[in-house]
Amino acid sequence: MSAQAFDLVIFGGGGDLSCRKLIPAMYRAFKEGMFTPESRLIVTLRTKEEVGSIKDHILNKLIEFLKADEYDVSSAQQFMTLVKPVVVDIAEANDSWLDLEALLDSDVTRARVFYLAIPPTIFGLCCEQLDHFKLNHENSRVVVEKPLGYDAASANELHSKMALYFDESQTFRIDHYLGKEPVQNLMALRFGNTMFEHLWDAKTIDHVQISISEEVGVEGRANFYDAAGAARDMLQNHLLQLLCLVAMESPNTLNADDIRSEKVKVLKALRPIIDEDVDLHTVRGQYVAGQVNGSMVRGYLEELDDNSTTETFVAVRAFIDNWRWSQVPFYLRTGKRLAKRCAEIVIQYKDVSHNVFPNSSQKPRANRLVIRLQPEEKIQLHVMTKQLDCLDMTLKPVTLDLNLADTYDAVYSDAYKRLILDAAHNNASLFVHREEATAAWTWVDPIIEHWRSSGTPSLYRSGSWGPDASDRLLTADGRRWFNVGTNEEG
Ligand code: BG6
Repeated sequence: MSAQAFDLVIFGGGGDLSCRKLIPAMYRAFKEGMFTPESRLIVTLRTKEEVGSIKDHILNKLIEFLKADEYDVSSAQQFMTLVKPVVVDIAEANDSWLDLEALLDSDVTRARVFYLAIPPTIFGLCCEQLDHFKLNHENSRVVVEKPLGYDAASANELHSKMALYFDESQTFRIDHYLGKEPVQNLMALRFGNTMFEHLWDAKTIDHVQISISEEVGVEGRANFYDAAGAARDMLQNHLLQLLCLVAMESPNTLNADDIRSEKVKVLKALRPIIDEDVDLHTVRGQYVAGQVNGSMVRGYLEELDDNSTTETFVAVRAFIDNWRWSQVPFYLRTGKRLAKRCAEIVIQYKDVSHNVFPNSSQKPRANRLVIRLQPEEKIQLHVMTKQLDCLDMTLKPVTLDLNLADTYDAVYSDAYKRLILDAAHNNASLFVHREEATAAWTWVDPIIEHWRSSGTPSLYRSGSWGPDASDRLLTADGRRWFNVGTNEEG
């Protein structure tokens, strides 16, 4: 990717997302020469009072959110010269938009990225104003992030509103999981090697597990979270996107349309989970007080200070009804206040068809490929070997363990940096197309709808691995969850 100057406008520039994630991401890009000194970072604010203090606020946040060895005073000072605060009144078509226009480069060949770090209720309005003031030239892109609707109908309404002013090709929907390096490595692993792709189907794979576990609770986002729940917050997007990348056919090229079309095929092949199937194939949970990492934490209802049946944990057994994945279960789970922060994909192969080592105390164990997204970025392959210095054919499982950060002596990867630069370079391959979002909602909606009208979530202790019913989902199939973040069996 060669560096080109571009204008990045962050609406809601003084907000949490902007200061915690987006601006630090651009500082990293600046230090790596990818956000050039000719570029601009325009942060829109609501009031004049904020203008006076925003630069100090941003600097403090850079210090707070960057690692100590990433931040240096001289780079930060140079970076801050690119930051241009401006008051923009999104609700009104007034002169504040002309102030914004004055800060933008008038060269229409230069990319403009409008990042809407504002509530989705005003995405449409913001796009309308950009159009009204003719700020959306052909090299303009608009970047948005969830919540993009709460079901298929509301999501479509939102997309349609934005589509009045920005073409689909200019609309970049972020799923920050797609910006994580190991997720891209999953594609490299599958399509850049011969050996895996031939062993990637129902004939050789027993099942797949995808887990995203979090230690945090709702972190001051109780209002948003309580209206969403884990299924909307994590399953509809991050978990299903990971499932797509594991399950999709090889795209003809890495261009966005080719990748999207393969992902949509997977989403459309997901077996619907409706009515009586919901209780059989899904588990929802809500955390109560417990110990996470040695500290006592409150339960969800205490944090919320209200009653609620919103799920903070979800586990699902999904099937993809196509030739490649026929009858292979994909077990997905995610939850807050679990024992450990980790995101991991496990591909569990089938047992060997015949054991030729009857004298070994250790029977051949099925191979397992693990792609760990966080906290470390790892690819591990569990294989059987003969134990050294042993006269008998004694087997031992070992792990081929690739730590990506060590291998590449890498600096910290940053999903937002990657995705904003991609948007600036008009590369949509790691973004979510409207069709994908709709297909994902169409699958998730009946599950949520069923929950709304029946029962309550099972409770689980903070610091555990979710409700017992989550374990039963797998034991019913003669399987169990792997201990994420370790090399051990579950
Ligand atoms: C966000 C969810 O999309 O992803 C949050 O809204 C969640 O609830 C977060 O905590 C997890 O992201 P990460 O990158 O920290 O695993």
